[in-house]
Amino acid sequence: KMNQFIDGLLSKMTIEEKIGQLNLVTGGEATTGSVVSTDVEGKIKAGNIGGIFSMSSPAKIRKAQELAVKESRLGIPIIFGMDVIHGYKTAFPIPLGLAATWDMPLIRQTARISAVEATADGINWTFSPMVDISRDPRWGRISEGSGEDTYLTSRIAKEMVLGYQGDDVSKNNTLLACVKHFALYGAGEAGRDYHSTDMSLHRMYNEYLPPYKAALEAGAMSVMTSFNDINGLPATANRWLLTDLLRNEWGFKGLVVTDYTAVNELIDHGLGDLQQVSALSLQAGVDMDMVGEGFLTTLKKSLEEKRVTEVDINRAVRYVLEAKYRLGLFEDPYRYCDEQRAKKEISKKEHLVFAREAAAKSFVLLKNDQILPLKKTGTVAVIGPLANTGANMPGTWSVSADHANTQSLVEGMREALGSKIKITTHLGSNLTDDKALQERATMFGRTIPRDERDPELIIAEALKTAESADVIVAALGESSEMSGESSSRTDLNIPASQRRLLEALLNTGKPVVLVLFTGRPLTLTWEHEHVPAILNVWFGGTEAGKAIADVLFGDINPSGKLPATFPQNVGQIPLYYSHKNTGRPLAEGAWFQKFRSNYLDVSNEPLYPFGYGLSYSTFEYGDIILDKKAIKRNETLKVSIDLKNTGNYDGEEVVQLYIRDMVGSITRPVKELKNFQKVFLKKGESKRIDFTISEEDLKFYDLQLKHIAEPGAFKVFIGGNSRDVKEADFELTD
Ligand code: IFM
Repeated sequence: KMNQFIDGLLSKMTIEEKIGQLNLVTGGEATTGSVVSTDVEGKIKAGNIGGIFSMSSPAKIRKAQELAVKESRLGIPIIFGMDVIHGYKTAFPIPLGLAATWDMPLIRQTARISAVEATADGINWTFSPMVDISRDPRWGRISEGSGEDTYLTSRIAKEMVLGYQGDDVSKNNTLLACVKHFALYGAGEAGRDYHSTDMSLHRMYNEYLPPYKAALEAGAMSVMTSFNDINGLPATANRWLLTDLLRNEWGFKGLVVTDYTAVNELIDHGLGDLQQVSALSLQAGVDMDMVGEGFLTTLKKSLEEKRVTEVDINRAVRYVLEAKYRLGLFEDPYRYCDEQRAKKEISKKEHLVFAREAAAKSFVLLKNDQILPLKKTGTVAVIGPLANTGANMPGTWSVSADHANTQSLVEGMREALGSKIKITTHLGSNLTDDKALQERATMFGRTIPRDERDPELIIAEALKTAESADVIVAALGESSEMSGESSSRTDLNIPASQRRLLEALLNTGKPVVLVLFTGRPLTLTWEHEHVPAILNVWFGGTEAGKAIADVLFGDINPSGKLPATFPQNVGQIPLYYSHKNTGRPLAEGAWFQKFRSNYLDVSNEPLYPFGYGLSYSTFEYGDIILDKKAIKRNETLKVSIDLKNTGNYDGEEVVQLYIRDMVGSITRPVKELKNFQKVFLKKGESKRIDFTISEEDLKFYDLQLKHIAEPGAFKVFIGGNSRDVKEADFELTD
């Protein structure tokens, strides 16, 4: 039925109308580059626009849709996109924080709620999930993904797609998902945004591509091309990537859209003029051109000059029309434009309650020398540049959140704790001494307070505020826009202004808890050595202030685990747990050996490994129990472990299972996450945790890109993080 309908429509379309469908323009609410389109209204009426993104509210969207449906010749409805990345008006933790929950139902539910709110506000397409693996925390956009691990990111990709699209994308409360940025955007050289990648194919297939594939297997109906160069050809003009791999090998049948002006940027990549790069992108497999209007302004000429064919254009138009058809837009173009629904659904109570829970579950307790949880009595001084800024809480890429009305940490704590404790507060220091850096790190006008007086004077005032306190909460780290797009950093320390404040606070001799705001792994070696308790709260979203109080004061026991390694210093980057062994590995437990693979000045160890995170309770792991020592290809191995909550609090633990392939036709990582379970145990309770390993878990792509499991010896590891594990041996036999 769909094919018939689209064939009919295509047969009526002029070439201009076809090319118009490939044009995606911005509504201008949040832009990350130059805005090219002029006279949007005129273009809609002329049938020159297929989609609009970054426009919201049923009224505005209805108005634009009416122009398309009533005033363009064929009345083809517009698709409306938006970066709904971690929530809509109700913001959830940044994606890196959500990944730290390791809680798949929770992550799916955040996407579901995002879809409910966004569709109520007129939107039907989200540019999410972002599944770029990144092992370089210098890259600001590590905050927008799920971290360093292929398996964890793949699991999350699936949940998010299912959350957005539900079981039927034609319902008016589901969003079309767009997996991005295809591909390898997180592997840019030196952590610099938009930078080149150059990677072996088997590394791509084994480590970087599986999350995109997982999102597509879960049904994601669109893909966004990335900005970066891949082995000499930028993704947006890369036919191998967009056609051979995506369409032919993976069988993808949805819509391919570029990133913002990515076609035009091919000119700076050095691939030709606008006509040339537009033709190249279309032929590579791009269907829709975001913002740059290269397709709109050059494809007709290229067709006349036989540089593209009408078959290429029809292919792209068909994918755009199919997306609209699947959303039900031809049936009812106004199905997302219901003001009453917007009033009822957006920021509703249940969503906020869920956002508070999601935030608390994303926090990672990095250190606790018996300070936390705090008692709900006395006075707490909340000091630091991030204590009183609500605009900071939703985190990067939260374009639709209500930043102006989001509670700050202090406001959230006051509401959560009521009159039980007294809270005093002070700025303490600027975010950084470098005013220009702070300005560079500001996006969409989201400023945080600054005081230009002598920094020592500000610290002295803060110490006065802290004098009467029983405990000090230092609210430090990054502002939300110090990570995210175009926010790469080479120095991952807490800025010097804040370090000086922290030292002064520690010198008071009072107990100090560092509440760390960050969109990426930071280098916290000094803080780890000197501060008794560190709670990493990322950017927790709309309800983060209250959620931080929930965790600090013990109403919720922290259970987050790091989805990315925290290095000791920047020189160790890229540092990730699933590295190769090398031919000269260090002896177990050694930190330096001459002529082995290591550094003179720092051990190979991270400060906090992947998967790490403390609880107010403690968990004891028994030895691994295997139901057999060897499996054949069609058999499964049952792997069990006894887990005991040995502390004084009920709590959740993420039990992580890793494997190592001991001998292979290519070198294999020293550990790879293959499964996990998030388990709740009451204090004193024990549980046996069972996993199953099958041949599928042992497979990898070999040098010929064949997906195979090779017989031989394997190790299985189970533990509460990637470093502290129990291990056992088994074999795969033919
Ligand atoms: O979706 C985003 C992408 O992640 C970065 N460039 C802009 C796009 C649209 O806003």
